[in-house]
Amino acid sequence: MITTTGLTKVYRSRDRETVALDGVDLHVREGEVYGVVGRSGAGKSTLIRCVNLLERPTSGTVEVAGRDLTALAGRSDRAGSALRTARTGIGMVFQHFNLLSSRTVRDNVELPLEILGVSGRERRRKALELLDLVGLADKARAYPAQLSGGQKQRVGIARSLAGDPKVLLSDEATSALDPETTRSILQLLRDLNQQLGLTILLITHEMDVVKAICDSAALMKGGRIVESGKVTDLLATPGSELAHELFPVGGEPSGEGRTVVDLTFHGEAATEPVISQLSRTYNIDISVLGAALETIGGRQVGRMRIELPGAFEDNVVPIGFLREKGLQVDVAPVAGDELVKEGAK
Ligand SMILES: Nc1ncnc2c1ncn2[C@@H]1O[C@H](COP(=O)(O)OP(=O)(O)OP(=O)(O)O)[C@@H](O)[C@H]1O
Ligand SMILES: [Mg+2]
Repeated sequence: MITTTGLTKVYRSRDRETVALDGVDLHVREGEVYGVVGRSGAGKSTLIRCVNLLERPTSGTVEVAGRDLTALAGRSDRAGSALRTARTGIGMVFQHFNLLSSRTVRDNVELPLEILGVSGRERRRKALELLDLVGLADKARAYPAQLSGGQKQRVGIARSLAGDPKVLLSDEATSALDPETTRSILQLLRDLNQQLGLTILLITHEMDVVKAICDSAALMKGGRIVESGKVTDLLATPGSELAHELFPVGGEPSGEGRTVVDLTFHGEAATEPVISQLSRTYNIDISVLGAALETIGGRQVGRMRIELPGAFEDNVVPIGFLREKGLQVDVAPVAGDELVKEGAK
């Protein structure tokens, strides 16, 4: 649904160049919720602004719903109007809502329809329908100042849907909201994704947002995507930084000369019998340092951090045993040591 190929954006000022995007290949499938995470300055906003050509990429292409938007973005008037039309298929939601304070809620939602030249009556009908969809039917005549942050964002979302988009872009839509309001906005986005088949590309710095609604995710660093995939696949990837951020398991080793192992199990697989079997088979004492069970992308995923006596070399056989039992096994780095990246199970 959204494909960027070799997307590059270089900002030039008199004395310096900033490479905000450095060859980004992004692929968002139709109907999925795709989250992009990364530190401040990683290039997330630039990426999303290049996807709807609010920002013109320095090089590379952007395809949305089968149309090459970069090809439409020419300088002639015709190309400009073709791009405008293509953009109506892409809704955008912002962190600070960007509502017009002098207009009522309904008039804010009508704004993009006015620009599209939709008649007054039809505009009104559509705006009320959208306000109903986002649960604000009773606020049509209110002004933005009379709304809570969550309600303002609902108006922002209703407005973004005015052109019946197939794709919704969201740049930190919940960052200005408290946790409970965040949850309700995320639920709304999930509902819209399911009811309307809306493809959503969202940017966030909160891992909880990814956990709550994303089917896929990408991690950006220094203008590049360094990891990406379906969230459930990432969790099954040994050494995945995103998986670790999404699902940290705490627990410090009790002393030196021990091996700390993170186990991940999906769905029905249970660790407990495996741990006691391991203990009996090799006659070793195993300590559980931490454990958690979470629902990610609608699937249960469990993680457990255990400690085995002895160094890694002494535990090759027990670790092999755990892998044979179908658990994903990551050997945690020893303090002060390089990350020990163990291969797939
Ligand atoms: N209009 C601009 N002119 C010059 N440099 C810019 C411009 N916009 C962004 N940059 C630079 O590009 C880089 C990426 O910025 P971007 O806003 O995409 O980061 P971000 O990942 O969205 O960060 P944040 O999480 O803080 O919103 C930064 O180094 C930034 O300073
Ligand atoms: Mg940003």
